[in-house]
Amino acid sequence: MHNRSLIWVASLLVAMLVAACEKPSPGYNKGYMPTQPLPYDHSLHAGDYKIPCLYCHAQADKSRHATVPTLNICMNCHKSVAVNSPHIKKLTEAYNNDESIPWVKVHMLPDFVHFPHNAHIKKLANGSKAPEEVKQACFQCHGKIDQMTEVFQTKDLSMGWCLECHRKPESNGPQNCSACHY
Ligand code: HEC
Ligand code: HEC
Ligand code: HEC
Ligand code: HEC
Ligand code: HEC
Repeated sequence: MHNRSLIWVASLLVAMLVAACEKPSPGYNKGYMPTQPLPYDHSLHAGDYKIPCLYCHAQADKSRHATVPTLNICMNCHKSVAVNSPHIKKLTEAYNNDESIPWVKVHMLPDFVHFPHNAHIKKLANGSKAPEEVKQACFQCHGKIDQMTEVFQTKDLSMGWCLECHRKPESNGPQNCSACHY
């Protein structure tokens, strides 16, 4: 190999290493499970108590972003439920001070990718708003959230992953670049 190509290969490796060390890098973070500021448990709320996904993620079937619930949703119950728990005391204090809980985002796409939740949920839940069908739609991309004590990323969120589903005849999702890229 010529010296020049050796240098080129070396600098490419350095660039890849630098990219791999940037944290948190969007996409490809399969298994990513950041520690949250409060031990909110989906397996308890969405699993044992069967609170529907859309009760808390109310925008998921209406807009591009699913959004994380505001504290007044939590306080619908926690004004009276588990009030002596130190975690619920912290929650109540934040609520009374008009503060929010700084939840750490788990799933992240790069800014140049367009992903609308609403279109996906409508199609994947066959137009139904029934909690069970909506939940099954969520599971296709997020895994069995109702069994998770802490949320983690189950898919790699790569372009190949998006296209694999879009190519299925029953999905008929768009494959043209401009559908997903600005
Ligand atoms: C077709 C795949 C897919 C389905 C179905 C899906 N999601 Fe998502 N979800 C994603 C992706 C991709 C992201 C990251 C989006 C980003 O960073 O722009 C995400 C992000 C989120 C977030 C973080 C906030 C946000 O909007 O970025 C929440 C909360 C969420 N999803 C909840 C849900 C719920 C609840 C359902 C079912 C009602 C659901 N998702 C269905 C792929 C999906
Ligand atoms: C529909 C009612 C309901 C809603 C809404 C709700 N919770 Fe809960 N939550 C419960 C119940 C029931 C328990 C179990 C209480 C027990 O075991 O004594 C619980 C337990 C908890 C606990 C564990 C308390 C402890 O230390 O034992 C935390 C933390 C918590 N919830 C946080 C939240 C947060 C954050 C929200 C809003 C995003 C929320 N909850 C919304 C009903 C609810
Ligand atoms: C009682 C309220 C509540 C219910 C019910 C609920 N969630 Fe959540 N969800 C939250 C809160 C609070 C967070 C942010 C903290 C965390 O990540 O654990 C969250 C985070 C998430 C995330 C990660 C968002 C991100 O940062 O990328 C996904 C995905 C998600 N929920 C999906 C679901 C699905 C699917 C269901 C139904 C099976 C569901 N949730 C039911 C309150 C709720
Ligand atoms: C589990 C299957 C599945 C996965 C995974 C998936 N999609 Fe889709 N997507 C669909 C289906 C089905 C449609 C068609 C929706 C319709 O007909 O309204 C669609 C439609 C779309 C649309 C067009 C929405 C509209 O308003 O017409 C965009 C943009 C899109 N997807 C982006 C993405 C991106 C970006 C990803 C990956 C991060 C992704 N999708 C992953 C199933 C999926
Ligand atoms: C269904 C949605 C979807 C479609 C259609 C799509 N992309 Fe992507 N693309 C993504 C997502 C999600 C990412 C970010 C994750 C990744 O890099 O794999 C991405 C990343 C990229 C990147 C950056 C790769 C990198 O390593 O940083 C390029 C370049 C790209 N796409 C080009 C294209 C071109 C060209 C087309 C049309 C032939 C296309 N995309 C069609 C979803 C899509």
